[in-house]
Amino acid sequence: MATLTSAFSPGVNSVPAVRGLPFIGNLLDFRRDRLSLQDNAAKVGPIARLHLAHIPLYVVTDAELAHEVFVVHADKYKKSRALQFLRPMLGDGLLTSEGATHKRHRKLLAPAFAPKRLAAYGEVMVDETKRQLTGWRNGARIDLAHEMMEMTLAIAGKTMFGADVRRDATAVAEGLELGMRAHQATLTSPLQVPFEWPLPRNRQMRKAVKLLDDVVYRLIAEGRARGTDKGDVLSILLLARDEEDGTGLTDREIRDEVMTLLLAGHETTANALTWTWFELARNPAALARLREELAPFGQRSVTTDDLPKLPWNAAVIDEAMRLHPPAYITGREALEDITLGGHRLPKGSLVLLNIRGIHMREDYYRSAKSFAPERMLPDAKKARPRTQYLPFGAGPRVCIGSHFALLEAQLALATMVQHASLRMLSEHVVPEPLVTLRPRGGMPAVVERH
Ligand code: HEM
Repeated sequence: MATLTSAFSPGVNSVPAVRGLPFIGNLLDFRRDRLSLQDNAAKVGPIARLHLAHIPLYVVTDAELAHEVFVVHADKYKKSRALQFLRPMLGDGLLTSEGATHKRHRKLLAPAFAPKRLAAYGEVMVDETKRQLTGWRNGARIDLAHEMMEMTLAIAGKTMFGADVRRDATAVAEGLELGMRAHQATLTSPLQVPFEWPLPRNRQMRKAVKLLDDVVYRLIAEGRARGTDKGDVLSILLLARDEEDGTGLTDREIRDEVMTLLLAGHETTANALTWTWFELARNPAALARLREELAPFGQRSVTTDDLPKLPWNAAVIDEAMRLHPPAYITGREALEDITLGGHRLPKGSLVLLNIRGIHMREDYYRSAKSFAPERMLPDAKKARPRTQYLPFGAGPRVCIGSHFALLEAQLALATMVQHASLRMLSEHVVPEPLVTLRPRGGMPAVVERH
């Protein structure tokens, strides 16, 4: 097993270390305050060493080095072990699979995210946003984080299954939430045990899988019985055939992909929108400029074709994802000995790509902590190396849903801002690093309709 070499190694001493405690290293901080640990690693340098007890981790907070890992030497790495803890839920879906399986499935899924298909999803995205807004009465107090989760889940359900999963939403939302909590408990536990062991976190994960399986397998069965293309992602998966051998995907393979798209797709976009509103509420000038941009539309619904006329709307979302990247960190495991930042790291080394840390580097973004959508307008973007902005990762494992997510976020934000303003009830929202970066305890807000 390749991982054993790294598991008992003291780490490569030439890589500067983040200060930790004897024996356990940075384990306590990793469990209690991972974001601060990430920030401390960034302060140490472009590549820093952490220790979770006996396991060394190499944290990369540098655009060029991240590009090497994500793109240039992508074939020298596989996804990190942390993600493998999600396997009970995601199986061999696109996020967790490797090698030939990943390549084959990525190709089979690509038509679901082709521009023509995406344009058709646009209408659903606007309709579902408006439906969510019907619950926003003037003066009502809402939990914005919850509202955005509900909305993106409804959009994922309709675009993926052509089904109104609002009726299944409670089970799906509970399943995803339980699964994420169980994953977090496993990730931060010093004791890694098989999934079959009767620990509370394993029981929690099994319950999550059952809740989700019941919905997803039922939708697959309904889709198979229908046998026609309904214009949703599930139809593409059901009808997909391998170019070479003409085989399709089994129910289990489809279940894994659907589960992956649900998890990877709805929570990330919901968080992007939640943080975008958070920043708009704190930056009235940016919100005023967005209202000005939207003024020519009056109350007419914005469509996919209108988006090129709304550059500020796009820039606001991009900038919010710079400051609060939903996928704030990701990892890789070296498949062979590698050289990174001048250090020789052995096969099995775990490398963490500090996406949030890269986005916060002062030498990449002046006054990096401030919200300044100007820097995300097309000309400013072109003037900056693309490697410095990584909300969707890069290379062969780049987010397959990035265009879907941006389309959804842009249409939803424009539609919401046309109809409402939000006053946040809490100035100090603490980010909680689960699989994605979400506001701890939600984001209470008061609605002002116009
Ligand atoms: C704002 C929203 C989103 C963000 C910030 C985001 C971020 C990311 C990132 C950073 C990765 C790469 C992880 C790595 O390299 O280790 C990724 C992969 C992935 N994302 Fe997204 N994502 C978003 C929305 C979506 C949506 C809407 C979908 C699907 C509908 C989706 C499906 C996936 C899948 C399947 C992968 C794995 C791709 C592969 O390994 O081939 N994501 N995402």
